[in-house]
Amino acid sequence: MSPVRATLPGVRVNGTWYRSIRPAADGVAVDVIDQTVLPHRFEIARLVSLDEVERAIVTMQVRGAPLIGATAAYGVCLALAADPSDASLRRAVARLTATRPTAVNLRWALRRVDAAVADLKPEERVAVAWETAARICDDDVALCRRIGEHGLELLREAAARKGGGPVNVLTHCNAGWLATVDWGTALAPVYLAHDGGIAVHVWVDETRPRNQGASLTAFELGAHGVPHTLVADNAGGHLMQRGLVDLCLVGTDRTTAAGDVANKIGTYLKALAARDNGVPFYVALPSTTIDWEISDGLAEIPIEQRPAEELTRVWGRTRRGELTEVEVAPPGCTARNDAFDVTPARLVTALVTERGVCAASTDGLQRLFPEAPDLEARGAG
Ligand code: MRU
Repeated sequence: MSPVRATLPGVRVNGTWYRSIRPAADGVAVDVIDQTVLPHRFEIARLVSLDEVERAIVTMQVRGAPLIGATAAYGVCLALAADPSDASLRRAVARLTATRPTAVNLRWALRRVDAAVADLKPEERVAVAWETAARICDDDVALCRRIGEHGLELLREAAARKGGGPVNVLTHCNAGWLATVDWGTALAPVYLAHDGGIAVHVWVDETRPRNQGASLTAFELGAHGVPHTLVADNAGGHLMQRGLVDLCLVGTDRTTAAGDVANKIGTYLKALAARDNGVPFYVALPSTTIDWEISDGLAEIPIEQRPAEELTRVWGRTRRGELTEVEVAPPGCTARNDAFDVTPARLVTALVTERGVCAASTDGLQRLFPEAPDLEARGAG
């Protein structure tokens, strides 16, 4: 991958600026950073077909709601490059939609590519699909940058309250640049604050079972030089009780029109602990993560069930440097692996979007996004 962000502040890996996804220079593939081997190896995976894109999303070589959407858009490009027919388009959209059920950006991005090409002649579709996927990526970068600017104000206020001492932010999972095309959602304000001279320190939840905090968030923050400390998932409440967390800042895979948020399993427990300890709990999101068609997160957001092996086995690097997996549960142990949970809007202090910070409520979101469909007016809310 070539440098793509030389003019922007952000994350650098081995001296090169990266986006997490980009079309390959030869125009017949898409290159992604393989997140299943981080932080031990930094490898680019070249995806050349719908099958490979589908597998990359399911196996979480790419993950994070906005990045899943962008990758799926390129999956449609590759499917159409092989066969631009109506049937091929429908098959690609259906297969990619099914890869990960909770993150709504996937559906949003697929609808956008589908709408751009569906009425075209088959021979015109491929070029327009590539253009649309590239626009989805560029738009995501711009949205995340703006989330960063709005969230930065919250960090500035927290820093002022602390009289210059470091602002301690607790985050869960990975909502950084690896989870988006660039910048990240929850981590975008952190990067801007750090680069702007605000002392910030991040408590990084390990995020069992896949350890996105330990392997991805710690990697990103380390690469950027942001002070951070890895903590066990269960430590958050304890840290909050002792006044060691100034605010929580997390991402979301789907936000309802009323402000409920689905995010990585364990997020809800952090929100409960935050409420009990008077710690502000912020959720950062691009509007592409809002599902305007639903308002009751608990009842209406599908929760992805992932393989039990993610719980019964742990992957990592041995002291000799080999990457391997080991079992941590008795053979045959039954395990249930809900990948996300829903935090009700009442526990969310505010949503940080590309248009500003708002209450996690129907009114709050409608004020920032007046053009969005009004559920109540349609009799569905
Ligand atoms: O299962 P994952 O790793 O895709 O889950 C990701 C998250 O929970 C992120 O917080 C969410 O996608 C927001 S990313 C900007």
